[in-house]
Amino acid sequence: MPDDMNTHTSRDLALRGAFDRHRRLRGNATMRGLLRENIVTMNDLIYPIFVEEEIDDFVPIDSMPGINRIPEKRLASEMKDMEKEGIRAVMMFGVSRKKDSTGSDSWAADGLLARTIRTAKDAAPSIAVISDTCFCEYTDHGHCGVLDGDHVRNDETIENLGRQSVVAAKAGVDMVAPSAMMDGQIAAIRHALDGAGFDQLPIMAYSSKFASSFYGPFRDAAGCDLDGDRKTYQMDPLNGREALRESFSDEAEGADILMVKPGMPYLDVVARLRDRTDMPIAAYQVSGEYAMIKFAAQAGALDEGQVMRESLGAFKRAGADLILSYFARDVAREGI
Ligand code: PBG
Repeated sequence: MPDDMNTHTSRDLALRGAFDRHRRLRGNATMRGLLRENIVTMNDLIYPIFVEEEIDDFVPIDSMPGINRIPEKRLASEMKDMEKEGIRAVMMFGVSRKKDSTGSDSWAADGLLARTIRTAKDAAPSIAVISDTCFCEYTDHGHCGVLDGDHVRNDETIENLGRQSVVAAKAGVDMVAPSAMMDGQIAAIRHALDGAGFDQLPIMAYSSKFASSFYGPFRDAAGCDLDGDRKTYQMDPLNGREALRESFSDEAEGADILMVKPGMPYLDVVARLRDRTDMPIAAYQVSGEYAMIKFAAQAGALDEGQVMRESLGAFKRAGADLILSYFARDVAREGI
């Protein structure tokens, strides 16, 4: 077909409204800015941090370029720096030297968890301190609860989660984030918190947490080795409907925020959840997702800043209100 005929035909179609001119709104940066549907700000981001006791210097995590374990004694000054940089919330993980079979240091009144919460809140009161409420960083076997052979005992573990939450609350935590994937953990924690007078303390439930290999680098960062896997308590990565059931259970038990973890490979779960609930939703861009972007950028295969922006924006597009990301500090420093 000659070119002019082709053009003629297209114009005719347009005149008849037979196709849309989407490109009209993409013509320049101003228009694209005006039409952008989602935005990421520091109010959307939670920065995960690792705080280790009994060390003097920062420990770089080789599998997570740019991330260090923070020595407990440097936590106060680190928090002050983060506050100046614009970080609004941290998810705190302890790297413990006092591990035992139940993870009891995590509910000791002067254990690592209680001390680090007090230090962090004292140093930077405007930063919301959220504590990962689990045991794998505090047990010598690395599982997220009390073991019976190689089975993690559900009901004993949720009682301990209640204890840990009350200790965190007394230390001044702003929110607890149970990540053990035990059944009934939200109800048990809510009950324990309310009983201790903390009925105003919110719970962000790691409600759809998958048994994912994307957590690989986290194990280096948090210093938790594990024989075996967590498949009897964390979800099968190929199950979407189950993620909805888990989330609705947590909602019914009293969770204030639901979370999907990992993030990028699970945006379908975020989107399905967004359609089915009006609860706030958080999504966790986990250690392996961060590592993939960092190492690909180091190899020259990706533009780190652009991919960071695109990946964080995609969480918002899928329907997340909050994003846990190791990039949060880069965003604070460099903007987005
Ligand atoms: C468990 C916990 C894990 C992560 C957050 N909380 C590890 C696991 O479940 O094995 C992983 C986070 C990441 O990979 O960035 N308390």
